Amino acid sequence: KTHSLLILPGDGIGPEIMAQARRIIDWLADNRGLEFDISEDLVGGCAYDAHGVPLADETLAKAREVDAVLLGAVGGPKWTGVDYDRRPEAGLLKIRKELELFANLRPAMCFEPLVDASSLKPELVSGLDIMIVRELVGGIYFGEPRGIETLPSGERRGVNTQVYTTSEIHRIAHVAFDLAGKRRGKVTSAEKCNVMESGLLWREEVEVVSKDYPNVELEHMLADNCGMQLVRAPKQFDVIVTDNLFGDLLSDVAAMLTGSLGMLPSASLGVKGGGAMYEPVHGSAPDIAGQGIANPIATILSLAMALRYTFELGEEADLVENAVNAVLEGGMRTADIMQPGKAKVSTSVMGDAILRE
Ligand code: NAI
Ligand code: MG
Repeated sequence: KTHSLLILPGDGIGPEIMAQARRIIDWLADNRGLEFDISEDLVGGCAYDAHGVPLADETLAKAREVDAVLLGAVGGPKWTGVDYDRRPEAGLLKIRKELELFANLRPAMCFEPLVDASSLKPELVSGLDIMIVRELVGGIYFGEPRGIETLPSGERRGVNTQVYTTSEIHRIAHVAFDLAGKRRGKVTSAEKCNVMESGLLWREEVEVVSKDYPNVELEHMLADNCGMQLVRAPKQFDVIVTDNLFGDLLSDVAAMLTGSLGMLPSASLGVKGGGAMYEPVHGSAPDIAGQGIANPIATILSLAMALRYTFELGEEADLVENAVNAVLEGGMRTADIMQPGKAKVSTSVMGDAILRE
């Protein structure tokens, strides 16, 4: 079976970190008897420079055709003046929307030895492994009506609408329960049913879906409390399922618990057999682009997620994740996760080490 993958390195450090992921793919092809059909294209600012749009129609068509997209990062100061709908990030949003990638999986995990980038107590986060499942194509970021209007009084009013339907809630809940079944068997659903009707519907419908999963425990939590609990005692969570807005906030909070933006992968999945996109959580890091010092681990772990969730190559995904763990345990560090007394290495030396493992 041939696994097709569209690689979109993007801007800033994107091409540097993607080069290392590419080496892993080549290794897997050479050593595990796998066949990959790899294509590469532009997205974001570089696509805008070449075509005047952050995502060309041909690129979108390719993204639809392939099994999975692996993206680096987009954006940078060069494109700050560009029209809102042609800015680099619009290319990314377009892929998510057009491929209807409704489920955003954001793991937050701590690698040992811990990165000392947060002021949190080590015992609070040591061994942390949580998965946030965020609804990605509905809710208040897309609901109608929306816009800024001027009232007869001359006052202006900004409007966004939070809407969810039962089918939208059901499909994201199924993703969360399926994942929890393969993990530690617990789903926490976060909404604000105390003040929002959409939250009340969310709670009721997640409850309905939970009946299909007798082996998974369901807990409901108000989203603000969930934020508090994430900081207070994050290891109580396994899978957190939540809407687009709360998921945006809670996943960033969870990411910072790990103190390692350069190591966190993500997946955005559509319906079974549909599209999928994998990308690091971090951006294009223009402050360090071109220096060869970016951490490639988030991108390499994103590739591991693609192996696991789209290509159903769990063994190969384990190989990659274990290699990353082994390298970190061995004490090798890129600048962003630097610790006193450890050897600071470049992007490509980190890639070498992971390949060796
Ligand atoms: P950022 O994630 O690019 O950088 C934040 C800080 O983390 C910087 O100091 C950066 O050097 C560091 N960092 C990030 N990734 C790293 C890595 N792999 N290795 C070492 N250090 C790393 O976020 P920022 O600065 O807010 O945004 C920069 C640009 O990226 C903006 O144009 C923004 O719009 C875009 N962006 C794109 C995203 C995407 O493509 N998915 C997501 C977030 C931001
Ligand atoms: Mg965010």
